[in-house]
Amino acid sequence: MTKRILGNLVFAPLAALTLTACASTSAPTATDEPGIKDVFGDRFLVGTAVNVNQMNGTDTAGADVVKRHFNAIVAENCMKSEEIHPEKDRYNWTDADRLVSFGEENGITVTGHCLIWHSQLAPWFAVDDAGNPVSADTLRQRMKDHIYTVVGRYKGKIKGWDVVNEAILEDGSYRHSPFYEILGEEFIPLAFQYAHEADPDAELYINDYAMNMPAKRDRYVALVNDLKARGLRVDAIGMQGHMGMDYPELDEFEKSIEAFASTGCDVMITEWDMSALPTLNRGANVGDHVDYAKELNPYPDGLPEDVAAEWNRRMTDFFELFLKHSDKISRVTLWGVSDGDSWKNDWPMKGRKEYPLIFDRNHEMKPFMQQLIEKYKS
Ligand code: XIL
Repeated sequence: MTKRILGNLVFAPLAALTLTACASTSAPTATDEPGIKDVFGDRFLVGTAVNVNQMNGTDTAGADVVKRHFNAIVAENCMKSEEIHPEKDRYNWTDADRLVSFGEENGITVTGHCLIWHSQLAPWFAVDDAGNPVSADTLRQRMKDHIYTVVGRYKGKIKGWDVVNEAILEDGSYRHSPFYEILGEEFIPLAFQYAHEADPDAELYINDYAMNMPAKRDRYVALVNDLKARGLRVDAIGMQGHMGMDYPELDEFEKSIEAFASTGCDVMITEWDMSALPTLNRGANVGDHVDYAKELNPYPDGLPEDVAAEWNRRMTDFFELFLKHSDKISRVTLWGVSDGDSWKNDWPMKGRKEYPLIFDRNHEMKPFMQQLIEKYKS
């Protein structure tokens, strides 16, 4: 109820601000205004995924936003196995090293994403030279080598790792990834065991999308309780938080925050973004794809005022929910810095113009966050 009232109250001023933002002429945020991390950083880490251009000096405007507003970063792509370990006997550390140095130099907490995942999986990882699935022993050894090497390199520099990503489907069943097909359910405890051995001080997380779904929620609660009962370290359950205008429902998302916290783990919102476009997919499986259709890319010239106002209202509602549960939530991370950077411009349909993040294409802060900063700063 409180949130609904808040939503209505901010609606009118937001609409006016949004109009200006659409015309790309909004006044720059005054530099003496506090950053997002300055206002909310004592409740949870406030993070963003960063891309290679922000780390290598190509996108300095994006890097400035990161330094000013965020106290946590995570690699959008460069630590995934296909990037960091492209061939069995070759690692590529360039981009990941840069990211970790950027964090160190700027006092920003670094999260590692991600160790074991079916998507963006190095092509050699689970197959032999003939392209057939490797044996269970071989896959165990490869997982161990990969995790020991990657986690070991950044020991003491990376606060925590997404150890296993997207292992469970919306109906609560196990995803039939190569890891599951070859090792069965045991691939998850094994991954946590190896990660802990590689850096006993690192926090370890399990991460997935559509975490509001009841069957998925229940499975993760059972899974994490089981990992803990085996004596394995699990510090947080990551709720990716890829959202749209009509999903998820706030209540279902809240139920999952509460259920995950009941395991004794922290909760993290690890990949927050909210599509403003027609919903084509309520999940976030990178491999899903919908062919381009012009009518499904309705706002190539900017968001209409009413859509922007509704988007801002929903983002406010969710951020207020995160604040309400800040005793359980240890990090809230956006999946990208500005709208132009977002993967949602190309997923699940390539070439749509999206508006899912806190900063617009000119790196101007969206109205909902300006309002929240005004409300909570002091
Ligand atoms: C996405 C990246 O943002 C894209 O640049 C890339 O092409 C595909 O992957 N869930 C995850 C993230 O855990 O790693 C994905 O990131 C988005 C869905």
